[in-house]
Amino acid sequence: MHETGTLSALFKRHSMDVQVQDDRQIQQQPSSENEGAPEDKNWKTSGVFRVRRFKGMEGEILLTVQGLEKKYQQGTRTLNILQKLNLRLRAGEITALVGPSGSGKSTLLHILGLLDTPTGGQIIIGDQIVGKMNDRARTRLRNQTIGFVYQFHHLLPEFSAVENVALPLIISGTNMRESRDRAEEYLKTMGLAERLKHRPSELSGGEQQRVAIARALVNQPKLLFADEPTGNLDPETSQEVFEILLEQVHNRGIGALIATHNISLAEEMDRILELKGGKLVPY
Ligand SMILES: Nc1ncnc2c1ncn2[C@@H]1O[C@H](COP(=O)(O)OP(=O)(O)OP(=O)(O)O)[C@@H](O)[C@H]1O
Ligand SMILES: [Mg+2]
Repeated sequence: MHETGTLSALFKRHSMDVQVQDDRQIQQQPSSENEGAPEDKNWKTSGVFRVRRFKGMEGEILLTVQGLEKKYQQGTRTLNILQKLNLRLRAGEITALVGPSGSGKSTLLHILGLLDTPTGGQIIIGDQIVGKMNDRARTRLRNQTIGFVYQFHHLLPEFSAVENVALPLIISGTNMRESRDRAEEYLKTMGLAERLKHRPSELSGGEQQRVAIARALVNQPKLLFADEPTGNLDPETSQEVFEILLEQVHNRGIGALIATHNISLAEEMDRILELKGGKLVPY
């Protein structure tokens, strides 16, 4: 009961701590040449999620980005990090995101993960225009639709592996029992059946990242963003964790964008896009 008690307390803390985001309307931008803008005549909506399907292509389009911009003001200087960037992510397709340090990979992933807001452009997830949503709706969309894996696992140190993975389910309203059961199931599929009760400090780096991946997947997201998810691991462990990540994402038909500096890992994905001059170009 002690563990359930601590989870309840954590749940309360988190529900009061919902991220406040800038609610300005995102300006509509005309799409530019890179990464292909949607051709509306070929689009249709389908299914409960009402995702758009592009005729003749395999996966449904889960995310569309048009004219995305992110500027930072540094004194009198304006840094244009993302410049009229376009992107589409499809179900079941894993896209590698590469580019030199400072090119904007983390910035882009945080914006697409709805953890940060752009200074221009439009993000459409399913049939919802993110810039037109209020904070509450955007937070719900993030919790229900998006999984995020960071370079450093960001697990809560005082909680076990199961509790860490159960947390997103509890936050989205699933009862404790079911949340724990589902968390256990996900950890088992990640090869962690023997590590359920371990705290992060009692896990190896690769195991910690597998827990972080299970946590990102447990809410059955449509989209997964990962920011150098194996950047902190040795090459062999990186390869192992990557294989599990790719297998899980493919099996579940998720659309994924994964930043990495490791080109051989990027080559294992379905396609590679490079951030160059604030835009995405085929690598
Ligand atoms: N809050 C901020 N204010 C000003 N500039 C910022 C801010 N956040 C990021 N930047 C700048 O934006 C650029 C892109 O940063 P970002 O972290 O997205 O790069 P990255 O491609 O992820 O790099 P790395 O491969 O090193 O992780 C960097 O030049 C960075 O200094
Ligand atoms: Mg980064």
